[in-house]
Amino acid sequence: MSPRPYVTIFSTMTIDGRIASSTRFSELSCPYDLARLRLLRGAHEAVMVGANTVLIDNPTLRKRLEPRTNKYYRVVVDGRLRLTPGLRIFREPGPKVIVVTASDDEEKIAMIRKTGADVIVSREPSDPRSEVNLREALQILYEQYGIQSVLVEGGGSLNYSLLRRRVVDELRATITPYIFGAGVSIVNDYGGTGFRNRNESPKLVLKCTELCPCGQCVHIVYSVLDKCCEPVLREPPIQTCLSKEIERAVKGLSV
Ligand SMILES: NC(=O)c1ccc[n+]([C@@H]2O[C@H](COP(=O)([O-])OP(=O)(O)OC[C@H]3O[C@@H](n4cnc5c(N)ncnc54)[C@H](OP(=O)(O)O)[C@@H]3O)[C@@H](O)[C@H]2O)c1
Repeated sequence: MSPRPYVTIFSTMTIDGRIASSTRFSELSCPYDLARLRLLRGAHEAVMVGANTVLIDNPTLRKRLEPRTNKYYRVVVDGRLRLTPGLRIFREPGPKVIVVTASDDEEKIAMIRKTGADVIVSREPSDPRSEVNLREALQILYEQYGIQSVLVEGGGSLNYSLLRRRVVDELRATITPYIFGAGVSIVNDYGGTGFRNRNESPKLVLKCTELCPCGQCVHIVYSVLDKCCEPVLREPPIQTCLSKEIERAVKGLSV
Protein backbone atom coordinates (compact mmCIF):
# COMPACT_ATOMS: atom_id res chain seq x y z
CA MET A 1 0.00 0.00 0.00
CA SER A 2 1.43 3.41 -0.93
CA PRO A 3 1.99 5.99 1.79
CA ARG A 4 -0.28 8.88 2.64
CA PRO A 5 0.37 12.32 4.15
CA TYR A 6 0.40 12.95 7.90
CA VAL A 7 -3.13 14.12 8.81
CA THR A 8 -3.83 16.61 11.61
CA ILE A 9 -7.36 17.72 12.49
CA PHE A 10 -7.70 21.12 14.12
CA SER A 11 -11.02 22.60 15.27
CA THR A 12 -12.16 25.25 17.69
CA MET A 13 -15.19 24.24 19.70
CA THR A 14 -17.54 25.18 22.52
CA ILE A 15 -17.32 23.24 25.77
CA ASP A 16 -20.22 21.10 24.50
CA GLY A 17 -18.12 20.12 21.48
CA ARG A 18 -19.83 22.28 18.84
CA ILE A 19 -17.88 23.92 16.03
CA ALA A 20 -20.96 25.76 14.71
CA SER A 21 -24.33 26.71 16.22
CA SER A 22 -27.79 25.83 14.89
CA THR A 23 -27.59 29.02 12.77
CA ARG A 24 -24.10 27.96 11.59
CA PHE A 25 -22.40 30.71 13.55
CA SER A 26 -18.84 29.50 13.98
CA GLU A 27 -16.63 32.45 14.92
CA LEU A 28 -15.23 31.00 18.12
CA SER A 29 -11.52 31.81 17.87
CA CYS A 30 -9.75 34.42 19.98
CA PRO A 31 -6.82 36.27 18.31
CA TYR A 32 -4.38 33.74 19.80
CA ASP A 33 -6.34 30.84 18.39
CA LEU A 34 -6.34 32.48 14.96
CA ALA A 35 -2.56 32.73 15.25
CA ARG A 36 -2.47 29.05 16.29
CA LEU A 37 -4.48 28.10 13.20
CA ARG A 38 -2.26 30.08 10.88
CA LEU A 39 0.93 28.71 12.46
CA LEU A 40 -0.45 25.20 11.96
CA ARG A 41 -1.22 26.02 8.32
CA GLY A 42 2.36 27.24 8.01
CA ALA A 43 3.66 23.88 9.18
CA HIS A 44 1.54 21.77 6.81
CA GLU A 45 1.77 21.36 3.04
CA ALA A 46 -1.98 21.42 2.48
CA VAL A 47 -5.15 22.51 4.21
CA MET A 48 -8.32 20.42 3.74
CA VAL A 49 -11.98 21.31 4.41
CA GLY A 50 -15.41 19.86 3.63
CA ALA A 51 -17.77 21.38 1.06
CA ASN A 52 -20.21 22.77 3.65
CA THR A 53 -17.45 24.80 5.29
CA VAL A 54 -16.63 26.44 1.95
CA LEU A 55 -20.30 26.99 1.05
CA ILE A 56 -21.23 28.42 4.46
CA ASP A 57 -18.10 30.35 5.51
CA ASN A 58 -16.74 31.21 2.05
CA PRO A 59 -13.11 31.21 3.31
CA THR A 60 -9.96 31.67 1.22
CA LEU A 61 -7.79 29.48 3.52
CA ARG A 62 -4.78 31.50 2.41
CA LYS A 63 -3.32 33.02 5.56
CA ARG A 64 -0.31 31.24 7.04
CA LEU A 65 2.15 32.37 9.69
CA GLU A 66 5.86 31.59 9.81
CA PRO A 67 5.63 29.07 6.95
CA ARG A 68 8.03 26.14 7.35
CA THR A 69 7.38 24.93 3.83
CA ASN A 70 6.86 26.69 0.50
CA LYS A 71 4.51 23.96 -0.64
CA TYR A 72 0.89 24.80 0.20
CA TYR A 73 -2.28 23.51 -1.44
CA ARG A 74 -5.94 24.11 -0.55
CA VAL A 75 -8.02 20.93 -0.77
CA VAL A 76 -11.83 20.76 -0.63
CA VAL A 77 -13.69 17.45 -0.29
CA ASP A 78 -16.94 17.89 -2.22
CA GLY A 79 -18.59 14.53 -2.83
CA ARG A 80 -21.42 15.80 -5.04
CA LEU A 81 -19.63 18.83 -6.55
CA ARG A 82 -21.81 21.50 -5.04
CA LEU A 83 -19.09 24.16 -5.16
CA THR A 84 -19.53 27.04 -7.61
CA PRO A 85 -16.90 29.22 -9.35
CA GLY A 86 -18.12 32.39 -7.59
CA LEU A 87 -16.76 31.27 -4.21
CA ARG A 88 -13.80 33.26 -2.88
CA ILE A 89 -11.53 30.22 -2.84
CA PHE A 90 -11.74 30.15 -6.66
CA ARG A 91 -12.12 33.87 -7.35
CA GLU A 92 -9.39 35.37 -5.19
CA PRO A 93 -5.73 34.75 -5.92
CA GLY A 94 -4.02 32.14 -3.78
CA PRO A 95 -2.30 28.76 -3.78
CA LYS A 96 -3.62 25.95 -5.99
CA VAL A 97 -7.05 24.56 -5.11
CA ILE A 98 -7.64 20.81 -5.43
CA VAL A 99 -11.26 19.61 -5.34
CA VAL A 100 -11.73 15.96 -4.39
CA THR A 101 -15.04 14.49 -5.50
CA ALA A 102 -16.93 11.29 -6.16
CA SER A 103 -19.01 12.94 -8.90
CA ASP A 104 -18.54 12.07 -12.55
CA ASP A 105 -20.58 15.04 -13.76
CA GLU A 106 -18.32 16.18 -16.63
CA GLU A 107 -19.99 19.58 -16.93
CA LYS A 108 -19.44 20.42 -13.27
CA ILE A 109 -15.88 19.08 -13.36
CA ALA A 110 -15.11 21.27 -16.40
CA MET A 111 -16.66 24.29 -14.64
CA ILE A 112 -14.41 23.80 -11.61
CA ARG A 113 -11.31 23.18 -13.77
CA LYS A 114 -12.01 26.44 -15.62
CA THR A 115 -11.32 28.33 -12.37
CA GLY A 116 -7.75 26.92 -12.45
CA ALA A 117 -8.46 24.31 -9.76
CA ASP A 118 -7.54 20.65 -10.16
CA VAL A 119 -10.22 17.98 -9.70
CA ILE A 120 -9.49 14.51 -8.34
CA VAL A 121 -12.21 11.88 -8.74
CA SER A 122 -12.10 9.05 -6.22
CA ARG A 123 -15.03 6.92 -5.16
CA GLU A 124 -15.67 4.68 -2.21
CA PRO A 125 -16.61 1.26 -3.68
CA SER A 126 -19.33 0.83 -1.03
CA ASP A 127 -21.03 4.09 -2.05
CA PRO A 128 -19.97 5.00 -5.58
CA ARG A 129 -22.51 7.83 -5.86
CA SER A 130 -21.22 10.43 -3.48
CA GLU A 131 -18.66 9.16 -0.99
CA VAL A 132 -15.03 9.95 -1.69
CA ASN A 133 -12.49 7.22 -0.99
CA LEU A 134 -10.50 9.33 1.44
CA ARG A 135 -7.69 6.83 1.85
CA GLU A 136 -7.12 6.74 -1.90
CA ALA A 137 -7.54 10.52 -2.20
CA LEU A 138 -4.83 11.08 0.42
CA GLN A 139 -2.51 8.70 -1.40
CA ILE A 140 -3.12 10.63 -4.64
CA LEU A 141 -2.29 13.89 -2.85
CA TYR A 142 1.04 12.38 -1.84
CA GLU A 143 1.84 10.65 -5.12
CA GLN A 144 0.76 13.36 -7.57
CA TYR A 145 1.50 16.51 -5.58
CA GLY A 146 4.14 15.33 -3.10
CA ILE A 147 2.00 16.54 -0.18
CA GLN A 148 3.45 15.07 3.03
CA SER A 149 1.19 16.72 5.60
CA VAL A 150 -2.44 17.87 5.63
CA LEU A 151 -4.16 20.14 8.16
CA VAL A 152 -7.88 19.35 8.24
CA GLU A 153 -9.94 22.34 9.36
CA GLY A 154 -13.34 20.63 9.49
CA GLY A 155 -16.18 20.68 9.40
CA GLY A 156 -17.61 17.96 11.56
CA SER A 157 -18.71 15.73 8.73
CA LEU A 158 -15.28 15.62 7.07
CA ASN A 159 -13.66 15.08 10.50
CA TYR A 160 -15.96 12.09 11.06
CA SER A 161 -15.30 10.63 7.58
CA LEU A 162 -11.53 10.76 8.10
CA LEU A 163 -11.68 9.28 11.60
CA ARG A 164 -14.01 6.53 10.41
CA ARG A 165 -11.54 5.63 7.66
CA ARG A 166 -8.73 5.64 10.28
CA VAL A 167 -6.52 8.09 8.40
CA VAL A 168 -6.05 10.69 11.16
CA ASP A 169 -2.74 10.96 13.04
CA GLU A 170 -3.38 13.86 15.38
CA LEU A 171 -6.44 15.65 16.75
CA ARG A 172 -6.09 19.21 18.03
CA ALA A 173 -8.95 21.16 19.55
CA THR A 174 -9.26 24.51 21.22
CA ILE A 175 -12.03 24.58 23.83
CA THR A 176 -13.64 28.01 24.13
CA PRO A 177 -15.89 29.30 26.93
CA TYR A 178 -19.18 29.07 25.04
CA ILE A 179 -22.10 26.64 24.92
CA PHE A 180 -24.34 26.20 21.85
CA GLY A 181 -26.48 23.21 22.88
CA ALA A 182 -27.21 22.41 19.20
CA GLY A 183 -25.48 22.70 15.84
CA VAL A 184 -22.47 20.94 14.31
CA SER A 185 -20.23 18.78 16.52
CA ILE A 186 -16.47 18.57 16.05
CA VAL A 187 -17.03 15.01 14.79
CA ASN A 188 -20.47 14.79 13.23
CA ASP A 189 -22.12 11.77 11.61
CA TYR A 190 -25.21 13.39 10.06
CA GLY A 191 -28.12 10.94 10.28
CA GLY A 192 -25.84 8.06 11.31
CA THR A 193 -24.98 6.24 14.50
CA GLY A 194 -21.44 7.60 14.85
CA PHE A 195 -19.03 5.53 16.95
CA ARG A 196 -21.40 3.67 19.27
CA ASN A 197 -19.16 2.79 22.21
CA ARG A 198 -15.59 2.94 23.52
CA ASN A 199 -14.54 0.01 21.34
CA GLU A 200 -15.67 1.72 18.16
CA SER A 201 -14.22 5.09 19.15
CA PRO A 202 -10.82 5.94 17.69
CA LYS A 203 -8.15 5.41 20.35
CA LEU A 204 -6.59 8.67 21.48
CA VAL A 205 -3.57 9.40 23.66
CA LEU A 206 -3.12 12.82 25.22
CA LYS A 207 0.06 14.52 24.01
CA CYS A 208 -0.16 18.00 25.48
CA THR A 209 -2.50 20.67 26.81
CA GLU A 210 -2.03 24.37 27.26
CA LEU A 211 -3.94 27.30 28.59
CA CYS A 212 -4.35 29.69 25.66
CA PRO A 213 -2.53 33.01 26.24
CA CYS A 214 -6.01 34.64 26.32
CA GLY A 215 -6.56 32.88 29.67
CA GLN A 216 -10.03 31.61 28.73
CA CYS A 217 -9.46 28.78 26.21
CA VAL A 218 -7.66 25.44 26.49
CA HIS A 219 -5.80 23.80 23.61
CA ILE A 220 -5.55 20.00 23.67
CA VAL A 221 -3.53 17.69 21.42
CA TYR A 222 -4.21 13.96 21.08
CA SER A 223 -2.35 11.36 19.02
CA VAL A 224 -4.63 8.90 17.24
CA LEU A 225 -3.44 5.33 17.71
CA ASP A 226 -5.52 3.09 15.48
CA LYS A 227 -4.80 3.76 11.83
CA CYS A 228 -5.39 1.84 8.64
CA CYS A 229 -2.00 2.82 7.23
CA GLU A 230 1.03 4.75 8.39
CA PRO A 231 1.80 8.28 7.15
CA VAL A 232 4.91 9.10 5.15
CA LEU A 233 6.18 11.32 8.01
CA ARG A 234 7.24 9.56 11.21
CA GLU A 235 7.11 12.77 13.24
CA PRO A 236 4.28 15.33 13.34
CA PRO A 237 4.93 18.61 11.48
CA ILE A 238 4.50 20.43 14.83
CA GLN A 239 5.74 18.67 17.93
CA THR A 240 4.15 20.64 20.70
CA CYS A 241 1.54 23.07 21.86
CA LEU A 242 2.44 26.46 20.47
CA SER A 243 2.14 29.10 23.18
CA LYS A 244 5.55 30.76 22.71
CA GLU A 245 5.18 30.96 18.93
CA ILE A 246 1.61 32.23 19.34
CA GLU A 247 2.54 35.05 21.70
CA ARG A 248 5.25 36.13 19.26
CA ALA A 249 3.02 35.82 16.20
CA VAL A 250 -0.04 37.51 17.62
CA LYS A 251 1.89 40.76 18.02
CA GLY A 252 2.15 40.94 14.23
CA LEU A 253 -1.48 39.96 13.60
CA SER A 254 -4.18 42.44 12.81
CA VAL A 255 -7.41 40.81 13.95
N1 LIG B 1 -15.13 26.09 14.61
C1 LIG B 1 -14.37 25.51 13.72
O1 LIG B 1 -13.19 25.21 13.96
C2 LIG B 1 -14.93 25.16 12.37
C3 LIG B 1 -14.07 24.72 11.36
C4 LIG B 1 -14.60 24.38 10.14
C5 LIG B 1 -15.95 24.47 9.91
N2 LIG B 1 -16.77 24.92 10.89
C6 LIG B 1 -18.23 24.98 10.69
O2 LIG B 1 -18.70 23.66 10.44
C7 LIG B 1 -19.86 23.74 9.60
C8 LIG B 1 -19.71 22.76 8.46
O3 LIG B 1 -19.52 21.47 8.96
P1 LIG B 1 -20.30 20.24 8.33
O4 LIG B 1 -20.04 19.06 9.18
O5 LIG B 1 -21.71 20.64 8.09
O6 LIG B 1 -19.69 20.09 6.88
P2 LIG B 1 -18.21 19.84 6.26
O7 LIG B 1 -17.54 18.72 6.93
O8 LIG B 1 -17.53 21.14 6.11
O9 LIG B 1 -18.65 19.42 4.80
C9 LIG B 1 -19.48 18.30 4.61
C10 LIG B 1 -19.47 17.94 3.17
O10 LIG B 1 -18.15 17.55 2.79
C11 LIG B 1 -18.23 16.52 1.87
N3 LIG B 1 -17.62 15.31 2.44
C12 LIG B 1 -17.13 15.10 3.67
N4 LIG B 1 -16.65 13.83 3.76
C13 LIG B 1 -16.87 13.25 2.56
C14 LIG B 1 -16.61 11.99 2.00
N5 LIG B 1 -16.01 11.01 2.68
N6 LIG B 1 -17.00 11.77 0.72
C15 LIG B 1 -17.59 12.73 0.01
N7 LIG B 1 -17.85 13.95 0.46
C16 LIG B 1 -17.49 14.20 1.72
C17 LIG B 1 -19.70 16.28 1.58
O11 LIG B 1 -20.01 17.05 0.45
P3 LIG B 1 -21.22 16.69 -0.51
O12 LIG B 1 -22.46 16.95 0.29
O13 LIG B 1 -21.05 17.57 -1.68
O14 LIG B 1 -21.11 15.24 -0.84
C18 LIG B 1 -20.35 16.77 2.84
O15 LIG B 1 -21.69 17.17 2.68
C19 LIG B 1 -19.96 25.17 9.12
O16 LIG B 1 -20.99 25.83 9.82
C20 LIG B 1 -18.62 25.77 9.47
O17 LIG B 1 -18.73 27.13 9.79
C21 LIG B 1 -16.29 25.26 12.12
